[in-house]
Amino acid sequence: MAVRPSILGIDGPEPLARSLRDAQYIADEGLSTAAYLALALGKPLLLEGAPGVGKTEAAKAIASVLGRELIRLQCYEGIDAAAAMYEWNFPRQMLAIRQAGEGYVNLYADDYLIARPLLLALQEPRARVLLIDEIDRADPEFEAFLLEFLSDFSISIPERGTIRAAEPPVVLLTSNRTRELHEALRRRCVYHWIGYPDPALEAQIVMMRASSVAQETAHRVTAAVNRLRAEPLAKPPGVAETVEWAEAATLLHNQGAAWPAAFARAIGVALKDQDDLAFTAPRLDQLITGAA
Ligand SMILES: Nc1ncnc2c1ncn2[C@@H]1O[C@H](COP(=O)(O)OP(=O)(O)OP(=O)(O)O)[C@@H](O)[C@H]1O
Ligand SMILES: [Mg+2]
Repeated sequence: MAVRPSILGIDGPEPLARSLRDAQYIADEGLSTAAYLALALGKPLLLEGAPGVGKTEAAKAIASVLGRELIRLQCYEGIDAAAAMYEWNFPRQMLAIRQAGEGYVNLYADDYLIARPLLLALQEPRARVLLIDEIDRADPEFEAFLLEFLSDFSISIPERGTIRAAEPPVVLLTSNRTRELHEALRRRCVYHWIGYPDPALEAQIVMMRASSVAQETAHRVTAAVNRLRAEPLAKPPGVAETVEWAEAATLLHNQGAAWPAAFARAIGVALKDQDDLAFTAPRLDQLITGAA
């Protein structure tokens, strides 16, 4: 397995974690180790976890640390190879034919080629990080196609020939685990499950992301969120909700609301599901303060 010379400037998981922190991302030891190994071994990094635990943000921070541009392929149900690789600009081709009249026009010139994320990532791989976001939303057929792409990093355009990456791009995949990914795809990657951060770490994230929030508020909010996540909720709050809840409660507090009440009044920032709100309403103050 070839160690990538280009990332040797980062010599280990700890230096990587420090650089990620400079890029506003707090990675625990598990994540920084998996990310470091994926980069060093030249393998894709597959990040799985519940919504809002920081998967996409981790990819952005890694790209920033590497000083590379992030190319993002957002997956969705029904996404196909054309949407992921390239498309011909049909209206523009038609216009060119009309304007050329009897003359010659090369309909397969760059002017008519719309590069989508996978092609973009191959064109200047040294400068890029490819994020394949929410792969679990795509159909299994698309996953099989991706597997092929990840094994040879080339795209064949019948009218133009094969475009191959000089050096494979750094690839990061995320999944919310709405379905199991194919075994063959997993095998190709370094895998890491991102769980909810422990309250102390999450408080650091809150203070890093929301400068208006006092330290005590950050600790209160992460403790409350931790209690909410232990409840059987349909949509437990992610880290983004924690940050916003702390900000929202701080705002109300600055306008005169007292403490537990400020959190309770801003609950719509943390819980965004009517059943969850109804379920927690009778015990909300207890859940917020931790009082028995
Ligand atoms: N470890 C972290 N360090 C700093 N900020 C974080 C961290 N984890 C999460 N965040 C914050 O939480 C927000 C949400 O994270 P992100 O969008 O990456 O979650 P996700 O796992 O991709 O969620 P989804 O599955 O909904 O796409 C980020 O914008 C960031 O502000
Ligand atoms: Mg995401």
